[in-house]
Amino acid sequence: MAKILRFECSRCKAEFPLDGPVTVCAKCAGSLYARYDLSALHGREHRDEIARSTSGKAWLGMWRYRSALPDAEPVTLGEGWTPMLRSRRYPNAYLKEEGANPTGSFKARGMAMAVTMARSYGLEKLAAPSAGNAAGALAAYAAAAGIEAHLFMPKDVPFANYLEAVLYGAKVTLVDGLISDCGRMVAERKDKEGWFDVSTLKEPFRVEGKKTMGYELVEQLGWEYPDAVFYPTGGGVGLIGMWKAFAELGELGWVRPGKRPRMIAVQSAGCAPVVRAFERGEKASEMWKDAATFASGLRVPKPYGDYIMLEILRESAGIAVSVPDEQILTSLRDWAENEGVFLCPEGAAATAAYDHLLANGFLKPQDRVVIFNTGAGLKYTDVVAEMAGIHRPTAAK
Ligand SMILES: Cc1ncc(COP(=O)(O)O)c(C=O)c1O
Ligand SMILES: [Zn+2]
Repeated sequence: MAKILRFECSRCKAEFPLDGPVTVCAKCAGSLYARYDLSALHGREHRDEIARSTSGKAWLGMWRYRSALPDAEPVTLGEGWTPMLRSRRYPNAYLKEEGANPTGSFKARGMAMAVTMARSYGLEKLAAPSAGNAAGALAAYAAAAGIEAHLFMPKDVPFANYLEAVLYGAKVTLVDGLISDCGRMVAERKDKEGWFDVSTLKEPFRVEGKKTMGYELVEQLGWEYPDAVFYPTGGGVGLIGMWKAFAELGELGWVRPGKRPRMIAVQSAGCAPVVRAFERGEKASEMWKDAATFASGLRVPKPYGDYIMLEILRESAGIAVSVPDEQILTSLRDWAENEGVFLCPEGAAATAAYDHLLANGFLKPQDRVVIFNTGAGLKYTDVVAEMAGIHRPTAAK
């Protein structure tokens, strides 16, 4: 396991010692990164040791990268090491199937790590606002760890997100508003209630969990970078985590030297603050008014880590793309009928964006791309059925 040396602010670069649970930068409120001493792990022999030491053992999921994760006993439900499916139609497109995670989404990775650290610090009450899947994941890992979870979600989240959180025993509040309103409620109440806030990018460990997606996709491609990564972007934890992973992989000497992938942030046209800021050349986003999309995970009107994402998109020669809900639905149906995969709407936004960037020449068919299906379509039966106008027919007698 890696030893954390310090925490570093993503904005002003101030450094903070490892000294119990941390939240955001005390100077500028920027998100903090965990920084390690990775020197003892440098070189391919350490990388190849991962495959050697895990073969024949119980399945380790994302904890196969334990050597580059914080030193704590994992709270695990079997997250990570998800399939990398090759598309049946696009010769150079791979689908990273995150719907295979516990609780049916990639949020499991971040919450497994955040709850692992919370338990190691002895925290007893966690709270988070969520667009849906993060709530389900936090509820599950908190249940596994014997920790209280206090969750705030928009009242119209997919029913599965509400149901799972309640079944896992979390305290759930449905809010007449968006995730930004939920976040405000957590911020207002957390001190009085003694909650530790695990909101997106307001503590450093969800990023650490999500960075395993970067390690994993590189290993699954034979320790090589793809040309581009499509990431359906709400709060941006996965995008930020993967970029951190690529920096660490370079430092470790575990990846074949070469250009890091172009990072492609995909949003719905009904809530696209990052796309708008990217197109205007701005350093941060502005609150998106009247955010609305059936890709509920993308309904984040003002991401806390917008400035980090915008920096990554530019540094990687990537782009931010928005897709109207109708096109998201078309791509969802297309992949279901032609690939046998029931994408979540957020994942279908990414597949639609891939079609778009092939059509406009930003990418060529020979570019190797990884498209993230961040969750299982089956968590969205109510919203997809409504959007697609599919109803159960009356039974024949
Ligand atoms: C299925 C799905 N995809 C993508 C996202 C966006 O994730 P992030 O906040 O890491 O950008 C979410 C967030 O709720 C989600 O549930
Ligand atoms: Zn700072």
